[in-house]
Amino acid sequence: MGDSSKLVQALKPFCENLRNVAESGKDIAIITHLDADGITSGSIMALALARMNAKFSVRTVSDMNQSVIERMKAEDHDFYIITDLGGGMASQFRKALGSRWVVIDHHQIPEEEILTDDAGQVMNAWRFGIDGGMEVPAGGMAYMVASTLDRKNRDLSSLAVVAAVGDRQDQASKRSFLGLNQEILETAKSLGLVNVELDIMLTGRETRPLHEALAYTSFPYIDGLTWNTSSCHTLLKNAGLKLKDNGRWRVPSEFSQEEKSAIVDAITKFVVTSSKAPTSVIDELVGYVYTLAGEDRRSQLRDAREFSTLLNACGRIGRSGVGIAICMGDRNAMLSAGEQINAEYRTTLRNYISTIFSEKWRLSDDGKVAVVNGDGVVAEDMLGAVSSLLSGSPSLPGRLLFVRTLSKDSTYKFSSRKSLGCKSPANLGLIMRHCAEGVGGSGGGHAAAAGCRIPHSALEDFVSRLKVAINDPRFSTAA
Ligand code: C5P
Repeated sequence: MGDSSKLVQALKPFCENLRNVAESGKDIAIITHLDADGITSGSIMALALARMNAKFSVRTVSDMNQSVIERMKAEDHDFYIITDLGGGMASQFRKALGSRWVVIDHHQIPEEEILTDDAGQVMNAWRFGIDGGMEVPAGGMAYMVASTLDRKNRDLSSLAVVAAVGDRQDQASKRSFLGLNQEILETAKSLGLVNVELDIMLTGRETRPLHEALAYTSFPYIDGLTWNTSSCHTLLKNAGLKLKDNGRWRVPSEFSQEEKSAIVDAITKFVVTSSKAPTSVIDELVGYVYTLAGEDRRSQLRDAREFSTLLNACGRIGRSGVGIAICMGDRNAMLSAGEQINAEYRTTLRNYISTIFSEKWRLSDDGKVAVVNGDGVVAEDMLGAVSSLLSGSPSLPGRLLFVRTLSKDSTYKFSSRKSLGCKSPANLGLIMRHCAEGVGGSGGGHAAAAGCRIPHSALEDFVSRLKVAINDPRFSTAA
């Protein structure tokens, strides 16, 4: 596990520089990724700057590439803070922006980028031996920066917890955290901001009737139950569960331990008979639940996982500003807008998944590698959400999953994931970067979740490179 003392040491000069920039009244642009981790990390930096009375703006982008860098250069802000993006692109930033930028990130970067970062502009987990795929997301890195700038910013630790679950870093036993994530969680707990409990991880555990909560839970995605309220109702009723009390629907948190075991048994039986999945979904259903104590009991922001889903929805549907406003504290108009966006996002995802499962030719699957063709169906900003969802489906367990779609600009975008129970040592981030760069595209990410973009004409070449790379030990996590 990484050594956070080296990180703490590097944070001092990094924050000194940021403080000088902020206090000298410079116009700062925060450029961040549009997913939940991007929105939280960008918002944490925005809040830290706002509290210093700095002049700043925030913008989200779906990925960092040369055209985004050109636009940044043309906009000519005094300084750029790039969060959750830009790993491996330091030399391009240097060329376009001189020394007027910093990156706060957690994606694995080439050794060369660490060695050439003389001015300490790349605040990346990996350079301190911290696994940015498992131990800290960009939200956690931004939190480290913010809390170094001012101890008062420790109240932003709860947003870093939202970032960690949003980035699926709750991968230790029973969905607990590792390393720096755990340290940040301890801070959030000690400040009374986050409570942690072991429970069934249903969406709306304090707010929705049990059958609705099950239907709204999309990880694991269970074909036949997810988004199907009536079949969830039938399943739970047939399992003998008392769904109503005095005419009022009972919410998941009101069920006893014994009843919860019956709920898990019923779901497990359903999965085993309907998908013949060799892996049990039970491990994916029961785990630590992170509750934001300061949020309203009826709010979708109270459960850190639901909060992160809402932020993802905002980003993916092109309304990142709503997500940023919510992170920055708006609990009125922006929260209502966020809830509507979340509902729209669920409908869109449900339509995509039903098309993918009904048009069988879209899926090619050899038992180890599954490739999904989302051309003409999946909007490019939704691609990562679709691959995350499919990776949690018990009908595709243990696979290396690749989902693609054709973008508006005619490039192909790929999103890859290790599915539930996948034991492959392949490092998807290294594979995507290598194969995409080999055909004139760009890509990267983590061992278990990565993406890339390639030119239209390079599709066949890219796929053949991919087939070789997934078995190449140079691109395995053990390498
Ligand atoms: O887009 P998607 O959700 O599949 O991306 C998975 C991970 O890979 C994210 O953390 C994303 O930032 C990273 N990624 C990357 N370079 C790309 C595309 C995705 O580093 N070109």
